Amino acid sequence: MDLKGIYMADEHRYDDDSFYSRCGKSGVMLPKVSLGFWHNFGGVDPYERSRAITHYAFDHGITHFDLANNYGPPYGTAEETMGRLMDDDFRPYRDELFISSKAGFDMWPGPYGNWGSRKYLMASLDQSLKRMHIDYVDLFYSHRFDPETPVEETLQALVDIVRMGKALYVGISNWPLEPLKVAEQYLREHDVPLLIYQGRLNMIDREPMEEGILDFCREHGIGFIAFSPLAQGLLTDRYLNGIPADSRMAHEKFLKSERLTPEYLNYILNLKTEAEKQGKTIAQAALAWILQQQGVTSVLVGASSVNQLAMNIKCV
Ligand SMILES: NC(=O)c1ccc[n+]([C@@H]2O[C@H](COP(=O)([O-])OP(=O)(O)OC[C@H]3O[C@@H](n4cnc5c(N)ncnc54)[C@H](OP(=O)(O)O)[C@@H]3O)[C@@H](O)[C@H]2O)c1
Repeated sequence: MDLKGIYMADEHRYDDDSFYSRCGKSGVMLPKVSLGFWHNFGGVDPYERSRAITHYAFDHGITHFDLANNYGPPYGTAEETMGRLMDDDFRPYRDELFISSKAGFDMWPGPYGNWGSRKYLMASLDQSLKRMHIDYVDLFYSHRFDPETPVEETLQALVDIVRMGKALYVGISNWPLEPLKVAEQYLREHDVPLLIYQGRLNMIDREPMEEGILDFCREHGIGFIAFSPLAQGLLTDRYLNGIPADSRMAHEKFLKSERLTPEYLNYILNLKTEAEKQGKTIAQAALAWILQQQGVTSVLVGASSVNQLAMNIKCV
């Protein structure tokens, strides 16, 4: 049966105003919980599950979907899933969605499919738009700082991408503090203010706080979105009794079993006790902790089931 056009978003999805935060000093409001497509939305994943997760998200006010050129696997297929979702369900809601993509890590072979050249960023965004079946992204990121490319080349490419109408806003991700300062000034002086910084921040990994990045963003009106806010599942009850066969750790790729040390298990059990005192799950407590940090706009969660997302969204 062709289900295209059947999806009707929940009419109460925007009932809770407090679910949105202003992104830095911009005009953009983002949901406090955003949905990432790094895992679980690739060509290897069941489309109907990806689809159900996005429906649940949007029905509950999650307007921001975060992608990158190389999310999958295979590379590019998370964006293809997004394209299919646009065709099947979300086209009528395009103006209610805030879709981001990125380029900066390896994407295609040869010298033009990686890092931060103008050549790579321009070509990659064109490919992303084709895969996602959309004319523009709301937000385009430089996915990492390229020490070999003049920083002005990367930044001017971002400015021109906005001028060309292919992105409404620009962001940077994983850049160290000093180049971040250069980016903030360059983009402001070229009338394309830096909207947001995307960095790994959770109770275990606190570099953006320790290195002054979060403070810099807050002081300069730049939003901050925390990726891997659950440390890829470590800050949940997922690994309390070993490694489930369907978990990210079972793949031993991005999340390795060496993380399950006695110190970690002790830490997570203590966190569980503290969370339960507040009537929360471990994941809810971990997400709430991030949202309490001054300057944080949103937590960018991943989910391999509707149930995980349903539980996690209650952190707000
Ligand atoms: N800019 C960057 O360089 C960068 C890097 C990484 C990520 N990101 C972005 O951040 C997004 C989120 O990253 P992430 O997936 O690592 O985030 P995360 O929220 O820390 O981890 C998500 C994983 O944790 C597990 N999980 C989530 N909720 C759970 C619950 N209630 N109970 C038990 N397990 C739970 C699931 O793993 P299982 O599969 O085991 O169920 C899920 O896939 C990505 O999709 C991407 O958009 C950006």
